[in-house]
Amino acid sequence: MQTLTKVNLPEIKTALPGPKAQEILDQDAKYISPSYTRSYPLVMRRGYGALIEDLDGNTFLDFNAGVAVCALGHAHPEIVAAITKQAQDFIHISGTDYYYPQMTALAEKLNELTPGAFTKRVHYSNSGAEANEGALKTAIYATGRHKFIAFRGAFHGRTFGALSLTASKAAQRRGFGPQALDVTHVPYANPMRFPLERRAGESVSQRVARYLEETIFKTTVPPEDCAGIIVEAVQGEGGYVVPPPDFLPELRRICDAHGIVLILDEVQSGMGRTGKMWAYEHFDIVPDIVTMAKAIGGGIPLGVTVAREDLMKWHVGAHASTFGGNPVAIAAALKTIEILQNGVMDNAAQIGAYMLDKLRELQAQHNAIAEVRGLGLMIGIEFVKDRETQEPWPDLRDRIVYELFEKGLIVQGAGESTIRFSPPLIITREQADFALETFASAVAKHAK
Ligand SMILES: Cc1ncc(COP(=O)(O)O)c(C=O)c1O
Repeated sequence: MQTLTKVNLPEIKTALPGPKAQEILDQDAKYISPSYTRSYPLVMRRGYGALIEDLDGNTFLDFNAGVAVCALGHAHPEIVAAITKQAQDFIHISGTDYYYPQMTALAEKLNELTPGAFTKRVHYSNSGAEANEGALKTAIYATGRHKFIAFRGAFHGRTFGALSLTASKAAQRRGFGPQALDVTHVPYANPMRFPLERRAGESVSQRVARYLEETIFKTTVPPEDCAGIIVEAVQGEGGYVVPPPDFLPELRRICDAHGIVLILDEVQSGMGRTGKMWAYEHFDIVPDIVTMAKAIGGGIPLGVTVAREDLMKWHVGAHASTFGGNPVAIAAALKTIEILQNGVMDNAAQIGAYMLDKLRELQAQHNAIAEVRGLGLMIGIEFVKDRETQEPWPDLRDRIVYELFEKGLIVQGAGESTIRFSPPLIITREQADFALETFASAVAKHAK
């Protein structure tokens, strides 16, 4: 690991993709499902911290972290040790049929870590989509209702229940016929792109609330049939959109008024990414159900549905998963939480605030940057052709994403025309500066 432990910044040595990477790309084109959405040909060999080495010995600075999974970077020695130790003891037995202390240890920890002075029950699965399936089934079972409200731009996963909630790209639904669940999508409180007309002095959040109460509840979703409202505290795949402070409180108020379950999907925004453990903690509300995945397993698949005890009252056999809550994944989760609380979450808050400031300075120099937004290290930069019309500029975004790859900076798009930064939360100031400089020169080159 000499190269990787010694360098903190990327180094590109070959044309991209290099020859060894190209061999894998050829195999991939032959054998792998064509549904995957790769933006550039990165073929990983190994990683350390925020760096990735590809098969040809090029190193990249990872500002995507495996889509917000590797919060502590790659191959964190303490995570590797926790996984190894657990694997030596036992790898699997199935919590569906047997008991092991790892399951209760993480459940107890999550009870402490999620606001709300009540006991929460925990159901384990293996992914974000499954964590949301667990939330849907909890809400339907507890309320005896079957309709849901979700938001335009939301991403909640691709299994059939979760797909009914997802509304970020038509490609995710095209060709799959009718949706499994009865879900009504309403506008998210996106201050930059908000489709509903407002009254004087009305906030976007109040407008969403009024739309629900005066339009949706009176026409297609009688509130007494509505099991749940599911929402991301910061919209992820939809473009890293941060809602105004009154949005989640408005939803909380509506849910309380109508006995609707408020479900917070923290799959992408959770685990310290925004500088707090859960993004909804920035908004001073207590949800009824929280769903978690991605970063919680330290890179090992783990999904968690955390629900108010009085809601998760299933009969025996109602819901379970063979692998859900696998002990190796839980060992990684417990270690991840410990390290996050030991300064890493604070680092996310500090470096995130620094990057937001610098990116806003850059925005002032380029009309193509319509908005810089984010919390902690969940940062979105939205591009437009024209600031007046706010016409999205996806081609520019895609060109910049590719250029950054060629310069050794790994990022992904989100929404129609946004670049997202979701680096490991352990990045240094030096790495943040490299990313900022590389990004600034790519914008200067392409945004003309
Ligand atoms: C907010 C959110 N929920 C759910 C999911 C689905 O997670 P998974 O891909 O693990 O099923 C994602 C994935 O990007 C997500 O961002």
